[in-house]
Amino acid sequence: MIDLATRLHNTIAPVITFQHEIEVVDGQGTWITDVDGKRYLDFACGIAVNNLGHRPPTVEAAAKDQLSKLWHAGGAFLYDSLVTAGERIIEVAPDGIEKVLFMNSGAESVEAAVKLAKKTSGRQGVIVFRGGFHGRTMGSVSYTTSRVKYRQGYHPVMPSVFITPYPHPYRWGMSQEQANAYALNELRLTFKHVITPEEVAAFLIEPLQGEGGYYPASREFLGAIREIADEHGILLILDEIQTGFGRTGDWFTSQVYDIRPDVLVMGKAIANGLPLSAVGASQALLAKWEPGSHGTTFGGNPISCAASAATVNALKDVIPGVAERSDHAFTRLGDLQERHGTVGDVRGLGLMIGVELVGADRTPDPKAFPAIASYAVDHGLVILNCGPDGNVIRFVPPLNVSIDDLDAGINILDDALSAYEAS
Ligand SMILES: Cc1ncc(COP(=O)(O)O)c(C=O)c1O
Repeated sequence: MIDLATRLHNTIAPVITFQHEIEVVDGQGTWITDVDGKRYLDFACGIAVNNLGHRPPTVEAAAKDQLSKLWHAGGAFLYDSLVTAGERIIEVAPDGIEKVLFMNSGAESVEAAVKLAKKTSGRQGVIVFRGGFHGRTMGSVSYTTSRVKYRQGYHPVMPSVFITPYPHPYRWGMSQEQANAYALNELRLTFKHVITPEEVAAFLIEPLQGEGGYYPASREFLGAIREIADEHGILLILDEIQTGFGRTGDWFTSQVYDIRPDVLVMGKAIANGLPLSAVGASQALLAKWEPGSHGTTFGGNPISCAASAATVNALKDVIPGVAERSDHAFTRLGDLQERHGTVGDVRGLGLMIGVELVGADRTPDPKAFPAIASYAVDHGLVILNCGPDGNVIRFVPPLNVSIDDLDAGINILDDALSAYEAS
């Protein structure tokens, strides 16, 4: 019999890549099981999607219940799960987010948010931050600068998108304050030399850069962007697709930092693995968006919405426990940093932690992650990477991971680092 990896290579377009060629047949909580019955700790979480782990019982029950009633409406009629999911999200969203629009993927919601900003402001410019990831569709890739491979060969991308630095203190060899000051000065220079603020519809920014290398923006930097936005009537679009739904310790990072977004973009963990994304904004802003001038066939699917409402309910009990798990993880990963020269930096918020792997003089070590990830998989731990050099471990276990499982995963990482350093 031909194995699954061979059938995949014969069938699926190679542009879609997989970090590990494990054939998984079952997922439950923090654990997945492969076709041979081997179990792995899943600290990849489907790229920060399964915040409640695999198949949380109440979410599974809600999705199954909806599956037995109604699957699709396509804008032809009303159904309860759409509105209920919207109500649940608005309850936990930052102040000022009063209504939502459901889409399917993160990229689609990013594009919807930018369309909302352009249409309601009459302005064309969008300012994005270098290292940001906002999706891979033709519009959203114009805002994505986390790695050049996402853009190479696709030019021309959307016009009137202006890229300015995001503070990367570790890579720049600066303190957070110095990096913030440098990045803010570059933004001022953009306004002086490139586009006037009055022509800018929106800032589009992740409060903690994900794909770009797990860099928190800091409250001070995001606060300064908020002030500049207010001064010039620019909308602040926070892309919380990866940082939302408890990942950084509160429902959204804007609440961790206490910075109000004008537009909030959500995805990934919103339905704990069923496809759904959303854009949230104030009633006043959304009232200016002409009905019917944007839309979707599948967005707000009844099953995904049922799963989303159940996800929000379940997260209410889980989010208060994130701080303890985060402290534990930071302490243990900080200890790895002290003992392993390969670990240059440990940074992040909540359970969204980047572990940067470096060589001499803290230069990115591109060989480290593949070796460490392969050792980890052999020993029962699945991890992903990020950053333009692929040298940052994305440490994103489920938010309800047990301390024992957290320790077990970090012990494997510890051994993987020792094995790499000895090689
Ligand atoms: C911050 C951020 N924005 C947008 C996206 C794009 O989401 P999707 O892959 O669902 O289109 C992602 C996905 O990784 C993301 O992390």
